[in-house]
Amino acid sequence: MSKTAILEIDGKKYEFPVIKGTENEEAIDIKTLRSVTGGVTTIDPGYKNTGSCESAITFLNGEEGVLRYRGYAIEDLAEKADFLEVAYLLIFGELPSQQELNKFHEDIKQHSHVDEDVKKILDGFPKSAHPMGVLSSLTSALVAFNPSSVNVDSEEDMYNAMVRILAKFPVLTAWAYRKRTGQPLDYGDDSLGYVDNFLKMMFKKPHGEYKSNKVVVDALDKLLILHADHEQNCSTSTVRMVGSSHAGLFASLSAGINALWGPLHGGANQAVIEMLENIKEDGGDTHKFMQKAKDKNDPFRLMGFGHRVYKNFDPRARIIKKSADDVLSALGVEDPVLNIAKGLEKEALEDSYFVDRKLYPNVDFYSGIIYRAMGIPVEMFTAMFALGRLPGWIAQWREMRLRKEPIGRPRQVYIGETHREFKPIEKR
Ligand code: CMC
Repeated sequence: MSKTAILEIDGKKYEFPVIKGTENEEAIDIKTLRSVTGGVTTIDPGYKNTGSCESAITFLNGEEGVLRYRGYAIEDLAEKADFLEVAYLLIFGELPSQQELNKFHEDIKQHSHVDEDVKKILDGFPKSAHPMGVLSSLTSALVAFNPSSVNVDSEEDMYNAMVRILAKFPVLTAWAYRKRTGQPLDYGDDSLGYVDNFLKMMFKKPHGEYKSNKVVVDALDKLLILHADHEQNCSTSTVRMVGSSHAGLFASLSAGINALWGPLHGGANQAVIEMLENIKEDGGDTHKFMQKAKDKNDPFRLMGFGHRVYKNFDPRARIIKKSADDVLSALGVEDPVLNIAKGLEKEALEDSYFVDRKLYPNVDFYSGIIYRAMGIPVEMFTAMFALGRLPGWIAQWREMRLRKEPIGRPRQVYIGETHREFKPIEKR
């Protein structure tokens, strides 16, 4: 017999079904709550206990530190797949055959041209503009250069919108960087792989050749895979929420980019390196900063630590930590902040404040150290996260539209003034 949950309000009982996911996660289905109770609602700021949707894309078990895309372990995907394969998997649900993957890549290449007029918009930004602001604006601007609405009943329309943005987003990301560094914009080279081409668009010098470096390409590919999806996080929920009003894919993505920008979300990777640099400049006393992080009167938090869902090691952090060691030694880079990061981690894992609250390093703790070793500047870190998360956002947006989910519209508990008589201005 299927389980139910009983809710009792003022002695009256209401019964609700309990639904079970494929990994045996249980959720009380309260869709009928307001109608059967005559208007009672639930309150859950930050949605700590609230599922917003049913999804078949990513599974995350925060207690055990498990992350799977479409059933495949993140460890396997990071080791054995490449980023475009993972993008295909997330969006379409299955790993592609070689033929399917080739076609997917060819279709993306067909759309890699960004309208010359977009450059004029980019030109209007000051050089100091943060790349995330530039990226969200340009992604939004792309709506004007492409069909603004996608017919979600047409597989072809949906597919075209998805490959278009997968093609153009790396161009915009690289352009945001080149604008900031005063370099001419580069259109890349379609004979290269997706990630290699992105690196060329970033790093080709105006008068020099681009030499692809396998260590860097592989390391970035892995980082992008690790960031590719993470179920209903802040930016993904934003993409689904905006898309639920039937706003187009690009408009929804632009909103997701803004949500990702914040330092409690994707912006943490930039904040981590800045924090590590501060600690280094301050003399490298990690203990002092640990004390600050624990002090409730001090706003300082240990950036790159803690997670809403993981109450155990973030499996992505484990992979990235190992990768940081490998990449830095392969590139012959010595970064003193790597040792500071390891020192902080060691102290935190032995400190009851962090242990009791189950605060572990998250995906952002070591990723910046690798980005920096590759020559990617700190202000671009969150943009790199966005590039990685793009397939996840697309997959989630597509799922939301195909499932014909209703418009997202949470309830509230009103705590403002009750009805008041209007006072004319001269009597106030
Ligand atoms: N440093 C010090 N204390 C912390 C930290 C931290 N990084 N994170 C959480 N805590 C404490 C917090 O003060 C609270 O203590 P108490 O119970 O005594 O009030 C307790 O741990 C629970 O924290 P919370 O803020 O209620 O947890 P949350 O689920 O709302 O927030 C988080 C999760 C990721 C926003 C938070 O851990 C944080 O701010 N971490 C630093 C920023 C960061 O690294 N963000 C990247 C997250 S992973 C990638 C991504 O999502 O983009």
